[in-house]
Amino acid sequence: MKTAVAAPQTKTAPPELEVINLTKRFGTFTALDQVSIKVTPGSFHALLGENGAGKSTLVKCIMGFYTPTSGDVLVAKQSRTIASPKDAHHFGIGMVYQHFTSVPAMTVAENLVLSRYDSPQWINWKTEYDRLDAFMATSPFQIDLRTPISQLAAGQKQKLEILKQLYLNSRVLILDEPTSVLTPDEADEVLGLLREEVTAGHLSVLMISHKFREVMAFTDEVTVLRKGKLAGHGYVRDLTVDDMAHMMLGEKKEATPVAKVAIADSRPVLELKDLCADRDNGLPAVCSASLIVNSGEIVGIAGVSGNGQRPRHSGDILVNGEPYQPTRREMARHQVYTLPEEPLRNACVPHMSVAENMALRTFDCPPQARHGWLLSLSNIRRMAEGLVQRFSVKTPSVDTPVGHLSGGNVQRTVLARELSSTNINLLIAANPCFGLDFSAVDYIHSQILAARNRGVAVLLVSEDLDELLKLSDRIFVISTGELVYESPTATADIKTLGHKMAGH
Ligand SMILES: Nc1ncnc2c1ncn2[C@@H]1O[C@H](COP(=O)(O)OP(=O)(O)OP(=O)(O)O)[C@@H](O)[C@H]1O
Ligand SMILES: [Mg+2]
Repeated sequence: MKTAVAAPQTKTAPPELEVINLTKRFGTFTALDQVSIKVTPGSFHALLGENGAGKSTLVKCIMGFYTPTSGDVLVAKQSRTIASPKDAHHFGIGMVYQHFTSVPAMTVAENLVLSRYDSPQWINWKTEYDRLDAFMATSPFQIDLRTPISQLAAGQKQKLEILKQLYLNSRVLILDEPTSVLTPDEADEVLGLLREEVTAGHLSVLMISHKFREVMAFTDEVTVLRKGKLAGHGYVRDLTVDDMAHMMLGEKKEATPVAKVAIADSRPVLELKDLCADRDNGLPAVCSASLIVNSGEIVGIAGVSGNGQRPRHSGDILVNGEPYQPTRREMARHQVYTLPEEPLRNACVPHMSVAENMALRTFDCPPQARHGWLLSLSNIRRMAEGLVQRFSVKTPSVDTPVGHLSGGNVQRTVLARELSSTNINLLIAANPCFGLDFSAVDYIHSQILAARNRGVAVLLVSEDLDELLKLSDRIFVISTGELVYESPTATADIKTLGHKMAGH
């Protein structure tokens, strides 16, 4: 719904952004080694690389969060000193973070006005609303200005983060894995609208992504990092997904398919009966959900975000036929393991080391502990070193604080801890491959299938339909809190499934 009101800022062409020979060291570790990249005005540029390759470090150097050890950042062909995000903003560069930065209790309008670096002391809301209405009229997305943030769905919040940058007149937009919180339809919508802005010459985008599908569909150019070094650059029109994967890894790698085996004497492990639970904002997240997960079976639930570990409201949860509360003691007694979303926040202690985090589940059991409580640090370290090897966790050492690892390697640390136990009974995983590079995704999928084949009952909550179709034996769709679709995966109607996921 466009009106004839003039935009508050006239749309200028985006400036060229170029990084030349940038090096960043953390202590003795070189995270970036002489990396160069050029984002030409009005292009959609993807930054690719395995977990820990240095992608986030590179954009944090551009944004002034980190001071480069050496090298140059050029904006409009001039070397610039960018010491803070405020400086970056001054040069027209803005970034959208993976985590939302808006204030939940305030409205969309209040958040937009407050995000302005020149926020006046006294806000004239009449003037501000006129200005915002004019801005909204020309913006690619529409969000009701008077809605409190807490009532927005994840997709709308992500759109607001992007709107905020456009409102701040950012001309070069940096996105660090922007679609991980979005459903595939929402991701296509957001990227499609940004694509239009780029094509119209209003915007340049530099996007970090692990999703080849999005890179192929929306971007023009790719730059690839490998172990902190520039590994390649090219135009998407000239490249295949295999070419990009090859640049990322430096070698060809085949997927490792794991066949499902039939499980004899399967029995119910997890039973949900009329379960109702609330979301943070008080709206019902699930309402009278009933389902059973049997041993040796993967049950997939499509279309929810962050509903896995909410406090229970009403209804029953049974594990092995007994009433169950998700406490550490009951989880240990029933051998329940979980892979929650946002592992750094929900499943790790960031300032503790990789070894300590890996031991969180078992530190009071032998062999890590003798006599029940005496911790054996050497055993904890030895176990962690084995897991780092097995799960390819990229970390300087097992003594590094987990908060210093790259996003994907935090995920691997938690997976190593939760999946390495030999007697898992029930595994509950929420978006387990969120933020992982493709070889890690392949590995995690094979581990989940192997667990299923050993007789583990798996409840897999995911927004990734391909993942659900690949792994699940049975599939459910949850929409506005209700289970609206159920089918064995083999006979599921993909079209109906997609529609139900989108809430139709
Ligand atoms: N503040 C820090 N202190 C020490 N090491 C760090 C710090 N930040 C990043 N590193 C290291 O730098 C390397 C690159 O990390 P970075 O976060 O840039 O990776 P990434 O390419 O974004 O990976 P992912 O896809 O997993 O997000 C990693 O090995 C990481 O452990
Ligand atoms: Mg990263």
